[in-house]
Amino acid sequence: MKIIIDTDPGQDDAITALIAIASSKINLLGVTTVAGNVPVSMTTRNALQMLDLAGRPDIPVHAGADKPLLRTPITATHVHGASGFEGALLPPTYRKENEGHAVDFIIDTLLNHEPGTVTICTIGPLTNIALAIIKAPEIMQHAKQIVMMAGAFSEVGNITPAAEFNIYVDPHAAQMVLSFGIPIVMIPLDITHQLHTSAKRISRIEALPNRIGPVVAAWLRMEKEYEAKKYGTDGGPLHDPNTVMWLLRPDLYSGRKVNVQIETQSELTMGMSVVDWWQVGLLPANVLFLRTVNDDEFYEVLIERLGRLP
Ligand code: BDR
Ligand code: CA
Repeated sequence: MKIIIDTDPGQDDAITALIAIASSKINLLGVTTVAGNVPVSMTTRNALQMLDLAGRPDIPVHAGADKPLLRTPITATHVHGASGFEGALLPPTYRKENEGHAVDFIIDTLLNHEPGTVTICTIGPLTNIALAIIKAPEIMQHAKQIVMMAGAFSEVGNITPAAEFNIYVDPHAAQMVLSFGIPIVMIPLDITHQLHTSAKRISRIEALPNRIGPVVAAWLRMEKEYEAKKYGTDGGPLHDPNTVMWLLRPDLYSGRKVNVQIETQSELTMGMSVVDWWQVGLLPANVLFLRTVNDDEFYEVLIERLGRLP
């Protein structure tokens, strides 16, 4: 499976890339970065560091949009810390990102592979993907699918009472991507809030006999401090790794094909994903929207994959 990861690392973003790299079924063609959890200069640096950590500096990193299409940028340093990697800061990287904008890398990659063979996993705001659609719509039609961590139905909002962070940062981009007409799998907070980073699960990751286990455990422990208090659970949610996990083990998930639209007008509900779960509206389905996950099996696979790394 050939994939591009479009990302704003972020601890959970880095874990996503790590499990992709650990999976022989997946060929990670490149990483594109976007402004989100922290500004794009930092998400790009973090992407380089996470690939160094995985021992894969050969995977290209292309820097992308430094701000949303229309709105003022916001970050999530209250969750991820000032660097995006608080909990376990990685050694400085002396590498630079690859030449060329993320949007051009995405377009060129789709052009250079058979149509219908490259999946794009988006785990940050959707700005780069929207810009690629604006620039080369006919080439973006070549994507096999977009698997996105974004949105919510019953869990509603984590950055405002109405909106999930990746959508809220750039709701106009999200709406453009959702109406584009290629297959989309949407992994919302409804899934990620079922995957508690419990003390027991973190201890198992920490005990892995490699250098990555303790780093991932420290990241999860750091996020857990803020998130567990917020949600009152043993452990916070785990978001972005679901995109790659769904590619590896779709049998762990269930959902429905439904229509999802994004609110872009009201300040009160800006970025809300309006999910027609009960199919009461007239608009046709545009996404496969996941709602359930086998949490124990998810962590079994996650821990086993992390254990394959250096
Ligand atoms: C999303 O927001 C970010 O902070 C996480 O990395 C994830 O992509 C969850 O709402
Ligand atoms: Ca993210």
